[in-house]
Amino acid sequence: MSMPRFLVTTEIPEPGMSLLRAAGTVQVPATQLSADDLASACASGDFDVVVAQIRDRFDKAVLAGAQISGVSNYAVGYNNIDADAATANGIMVANTPGVLTDATADIALLLILATARRCVEADSFVRNGQFTGWEPSLLLGHDVSGMTLGLAGFGRIARATARRAAAFGMRIAFCPRPPGDRPVSDDELGEFAGRVEHVSWTDLVGMSDFLSIHVPLNDATHHLVDSDVLRAMKPTAILINTARGPIVDEAALVAALQSGEIAAAGLDVYEDEPALAPGLAELPNTVLLPHVGSATVAVRAEMARLCAENAIAMAHKRIPPHPVNPEAWSARPEPGRR
Ligand code: GLV
Repeated sequence: MSMPRFLVTTEIPEPGMSLLRAAGTVQVPATQLSADDLASACASGDFDVVVAQIRDRFDKAVLAGAQISGVSNYAVGYNNIDADAATANGIMVANTPGVLTDATADIALLLILATARRCVEADSFVRNGQFTGWEPSLLLGHDVSGMTLGLAGFGRIARATARRAAAFGMRIAFCPRPPGDRPVSDDELGEFAGRVEHVSWTDLVGMSDFLSIHVPLNDATHHLVDSDVLRAMKPTAILINTARGPIVDEAALVAALQSGEIAAAGLDVYEDEPALAPGLAELPNTVLLPHVGSATVAVRAEMARLCAENAIAMAHKRIPPHPVNPEAWSARPEPGRR
């Protein structure tokens, strides 16, 4: 077989680049590819596998014209790729699950604590020279212990968040597949059996002091948190989102925060990233991070390794270690590149 040819839309950390370079030829564009340039590159027949970022969109049109075997996404979430269209076109998609679970749960906890204890306001207060000494009523926040953490979703990151929250004395409730539901056996609950409460989405929204989002973005979860949900939350409640921005109707969130319908929000992701909804950045009752859930040196290196391993396997027409749509190649007599 000829040397695999990789298009890496944005350089990934080591050891990813070295693994790819040792396995084949690697092209990294000097600047970020426009949607048209990405489509042309995929259709050119010059590449076997694209190593992609979540801002690279692989929609039906791009995938229908693509002459590639696979897309290796440098992320666990893959809502930037129309996986059904990829399957229909014989293109395998792979992602990087597992390695970023703890880091992302750390950020969820960080946002819970930072919003409850007004960390950003307090930091600005000190930096602005407003701190003139200890005061009984200075920047009072809220306890997290004894509060209810509602988890929307109960996958890896939700469970890691639950583990941390339990150590902070929080009561934990969850809805596994909001806005619907699904049964969860004691076996599936594992270490959490008897320690967490399985409730409906409506109950979760109404009972949570902190509502934390841990579902993938898809048609069922787009605007899962809308103006109705925000209205049904406690006025003292805090919304946390480390999953994907469009799960929350951000304009409705700004309105709810402005009117006091809910108390605060801690966000790592945004509906139209990197843009923020008008008014969001001006709100003191928000903690806003730039999508850094997995941003530790060690985690990003591990993601790069998995991403490269996925890409190399797909370039050799082998099922990658972390396929999203393993059926993609079985649908075709001659798997992969057409
Ligand atoms: C980051 O958001 C990821 O999905 O890995």
